[in-house]
Amino acid sequence: DWTSTAFVDTTIADIKATVGNDKVVLALSGGVDSSVAAVLLHKAIGTNLHCIFVDNGLLRKNEYESVLEQYKDFGLNIKGVDAKDKFLGQLAGVEDPEQKRKIIGRVFIEVFDEESHLIQDVKWLAQGTIYPDIIESVSVNGPSATIKSHHNVGGLPDFMKLKVVEPLKTLFKDEVRRVGKALGLEAFILGRHPFPGPGLGIRIIGEVTPEKVAILQDADKIYIDNLKEAGLYDKVWQAGAIFLPVRSVGVMGDERTYENVIALRAVESLDGMTADWCHLPYPVLAKISNEIINKVKGINRVVYDISSKPPATIEWE
Ligand code: XMP
Repeated sequence: DWTSTAFVDTTIADIKATVGNDKVVLALSGGVDSSVAAVLLHKAIGTNLHCIFVDNGLLRKNEYESVLEQYKDFGLNIKGVDAKDKFLGQLAGVEDPEQKRKIIGRVFIEVFDEESHLIQDVKWLAQGTIYPDIIESVSVNGPSATIKSHHNVGGLPDFMKLKVVEPLKTLFKDEVRRVGKALGLEAFILGRHPFPGPGLGIRIIGEVTPEKVAILQDADKIYIDNLKEAGLYDKVWQAGAIFLPVRSVGVMGDERTYENVIALRAVESLDGMTADWCHLPYPVLAKISNEIINKVKGINRVVYDISSKPPATIEWE
């Protein structure tokens, strides 16, 4: 019979036995998985855990600053690295989703490798990998079909020569949340929606530019803030806005506009493997749409995604 407190106790003991007095490095993303992994490791080995939080320029609006502050409050040994320009520079001109994932994954490893070399004598890499990450990276739609590469699984380059510790790799998302609760993590971290490693980079269809990132961040913030305000955020498993590089005609006053489209996605799911689109109330959707169109320059149309997984995936890329 699985309980979160028993899992915490045995895992802390396991980590102590495995890692001993070695130093461990972990990439913190602000998400539930890496946060729970960090706190678990911190309980086991204290400041021998070195956390690194990279700003890839593809995070939600204000996410970098607020996440960094939250983790400092936890007493975690954490370093923030602003690598926005490096990521966005490498993504210039690239349209293919898998190509974008590869670039984001590669640049992340370069930045992370450089940072971990600044820590003397680090021996271990900790990762917040959970069970669905592993199965999805092996197979999604059949025995050999890897639909999307997950750069957070198996992304460790040989030259880092670090041993890997993945304390959550047998858990599903709901179990990770229960473990986090048992560790005393607060609701604002535990209740966070999942967010993909490549971030807004795969929520901008086609080429990623700093201008599109800024537009999407603004639209996404309006969307998420409204879900929270309406008491819906916690009822939704994952939500986010997507920037479509499609221009459509609109009118504003006497003017004709020809601008981009924002798609809204919200799904209910247990583990991300299957998902149903959320039947959000029309008045909430109406308010979000009005606010985005009125406040976000460059957007004149908002659409709502009513596709379930399968066959549609949660992300559009
Ligand atoms: P899909 O789009 O495959 O997404 O239905 C399932 C879950 O995985 C997340 N996702 C990713 N996470 N790197 C990640 O770390 C990725 O490349 C990636 N692609 C999708 C997605 O947000 C959803 O929670």
